[in-house]
Amino acid sequence: MKTIIRRMEKENMEEIAGEAAEIWKAGGLVAFPTETVYGLGGNGLDSQASRKIYAAKGRPSDNPLILHIADTAQVEMLAQGISATGKQLMEKFWPGPLTLIFPKAPCVPYETTGGLDTVAIRMPSHPAARALLQASGLPIAAPSANVSGRPSPTLASHVIEDMDGKIEMIVDGGAVGIGVESTIVDLTGTVPTILRPGYITEEMLREAVGYVDVDPAVLGPVGEHVKPKAPGMKYRHYAPKAPMVLVEGGREEEAACIIQLAAQAKAQGKKVGIIASQENQNKYVDGIVKVIGSRKDPEAVAHNLYRILREFDEEQVDQIYAESFDEHDLGRAIMNRMKKAAGQQVVAAGRKNKI
Ligand code: TXA
Ligand code: MG
Repeated sequence: MKTIIRRMEKENMEEIAGEAAEIWKAGGLVAFPTETVYGLGGNGLDSQASRKIYAAKGRPSDNPLILHIADTAQVEMLAQGISATGKQLMEKFWPGPLTLIFPKAPCVPYETTGGLDTVAIRMPSHPAARALLQASGLPIAAPSANVSGRPSPTLASHVIEDMDGKIEMIVDGGAVGIGVESTIVDLTGTVPTILRPGYITEEMLREAVGYVDVDPAVLGPVGEHVKPKAPGMKYRHYAPKAPMVLVEGGREEEAACIIQLAAQAKAQGKKVGIIASQENQNKYVDGIVKVIGSRKDPEAVAHNLYRILREFDEEQVDQIYAESFDEHDLGRAIMNRMKKAAGQQVVAAGRKNKI
């Protein structure tokens, strides 16, 4: 298949939105930017389109898709039993990087929900996403537009790498803003529960609706006793091709530990990549050093994470070492993704590693 790639500017937004809407109505797939990461969209009410999405991503079909909408009124059609809490959250955070889970309405096919009786819905705020969704009038099922298992795309070039030749169209809207996927909140239980941390933090949710819970799978490794409620969170995810080790400690300890690990790996003939904070960048002597941002600037760290992981894939490093970041607020989403990228390989940088 020849994939049409269209660069979206203010002047051609309506025209491109019209083209994308036609493709969606005909059952095809269009990748588009959102404020979090690029999405791979298809008509969420068309089970055939959902099947095509799973095939293009190489994604297991038990991993449900998020429906993207432009108008709150669409929720009434797609979900049932919408609580007062649900309404408050929509009012406060939509459009924006928050996905809500409700019991599904009969019109939503099981192909879209991965066989579940619940449905995930979000209203993105990115102007290009809004233009496309409005033009189609459809709820658009859109997972992140990466091949399953790879880091989510934050640039159109990432989408082209993974999807060229597999889908009808890619809308290039430049770099996304946030860089990590939306916060997911499950509203089907008695207490709203965070299934995936994101830009909308626990604090922000608590301030809006009082008590919220956090799914144990968000906080630590998924083991026999901890099964994530968001099926997608169980897969090795957001992952670079090379093994990655996350080093935890203080700023100085982490640098000292990574210097030692990088020297050892280099001595074994390995090409090393280092994910460094701005504060520590000049300390490293071995390896390809990529600065992810200041320890005081989690927004920059979130924005740069997936791009850096993909760059290390391109440069074919054999081993990645990464510093850690504060787990508060947006830091929770950052560390959740970094631990997954590292396949939970975390090293404590203590005194014994000091050189
Ligand atoms: O920011 C985002 O949410 C991006 C952009 C494109 O909107 N989308 C995204 O979709 O991250 P995806 O498919 O890569 O991740 C969706 C996550 C998966 O972990 C999936 O298991 C979970 O949402 N999910 C979807 N429907 C669910 C449901 N009914 N119950 C529990 N988890 C659900
Ligand atoms: Mg994804």
